[in-house]
Amino acid sequence: MLNGKKIVLGITGSIAAYKSCLIIRELIKKGAEVQVVITPAGKEFITPITLSALTHKPVISEFFSQRDGTWNSHVDLGLWADAMVIAPATASTIGKMANGIADNMLITTYLSMKAPVFIAPAMDLDMFAHPSTQKNLRTLQDYGNHIIEPGTGFLASTLEGKGRMEEPVNIVARLEEYFSNEDIKPLAGKKILITAGPTYEKIDPVRFIGNYSSGKMGLALAEECASQGADVELVCGPVSAKMSRDYPNIHRTDVESAQEMYEACKAIYPTMDAGILCAAVADFTPETVADQKIKRTGDDMIIRLKPNPDIAASLGKMKRAEQKLVGFALETNNEESNAQDKLKKKNFDFIVLNSLRDKGAGFKTDTNKISIISAEGRKDFPLKSKVDAARDIVDEMVSTFNS
Ligand code: PMT
Repeated sequence: MLNGKKIVLGITGSIAAYKSCLIIRELIKKGAEVQVVITPAGKEFITPITLSALTHKPVISEFFSQRDGTWNSHVDLGLWADAMVIAPATASTIGKMANGIADNMLITTYLSMKAPVFIAPAMDLDMFAHPSTQKNLRTLQDYGNHIIEPGTGFLASTLEGKGRMEEPVNIVARLEEYFSNEDIKPLAGKKILITAGPTYEKIDPVRFIGNYSSGKMGLALAEECASQGADVELVCGPVSAKMSRDYPNIHRTDVESAQEMYEACKAIYPTMDAGILCAAVADFTPETVADQKIKRTGDDMIIRLKPNPDIAASLGKMKRAEQKLVGFALETNNEESNAQDKLKKKNFDFIVLNSLRDKGAGFKTDTNKISIISAEGRKDFPLKSKVDAARDIVDEMVSTFNS
């Protein structure tokens, strides 16, 4: 479970720092790669030479490498790691982490960390029991960090025997347990293609035919699939919406036109387990694109349009028995019958209907009101955030995998 995992090990100034050698040994034995980041006080307790000999990597302590002045990037470390473990974590470091006091490399790395963080406090009982330490630990737990403590954890009713760092083998076991649960996420091992946003169809170098899609619904779907363990291929039209954080398991291809989106999807879908087609793809594109900005002449202007490829219908045709395909229908009238039509014509496993007649649904809003329609029937959902609607859609897809 730890094989190939990249672990940043933060070491701070505690007498328990020597035990970090045992953590490294245990992690490396299980196949993990370890990068040590140590505070200046940590170096008083254990030498970087010992640590780099064990990890086979230079130990990072300063913002700049002393040897050649190169910049140690905490942001890169935050993206590199699968997990960060801070063991031992002193009361001072815990306080700085809880309050964002980024005065050393370890705290800046912590603040940039995209991966889960595990904290093993180490201090004497009085420091541990002090309300400020307890408050800071609670804050870190509220931030989603994992506090590793011997026994029943720092919130236990009795603090007796507390503050001592958890044994190295148990710290590593907690990591293993975390990664083993990750393996059983509903979409672990699945590859999902998601299309998002609008397409722009060029008229001339300054004008295009587009639509109001912001990409919010598609990005929410990508985030939900990634959180459920999938490897996501996101093919995205021109959007300014951003994801709430970086995901190492979302790979994004940016496109502009329907033709580009079609080429990307046609190449990607054959290796996918499923596709969710949320993009608002232009059905038509100008037959010719002017090389230069079209000038006003006083006459009417006629743009002749030709049909774009129907991405959904093409993927529906190439779909293999074990693959799934989920489509969207954005309607303004005859919602149910139009959606039923698209469900069949495009060979979707189910279709997500949203109507511009519903307030708060469709383009640009942070909310959506959806119905899921399949051969089995129709499920209606109330108006929700796009994040929650994405969860309903992905849960439905997970159940189609399992049916
Ligand atoms: O991006 P947001 O602002 O958050 O808005 C979200 C949304 C309203 C765009 C989204 O919820 C949505 O409804 N997306 C589909 C919009 C659409 O184009 O629907 P459609 O009924 O025209 O198309 C039916 C299906 O075929 C869709 O899955 C579409 O992606 C696909 N299609 C359509 C045309 C085409 N040439 N190729 C396609 O693949």
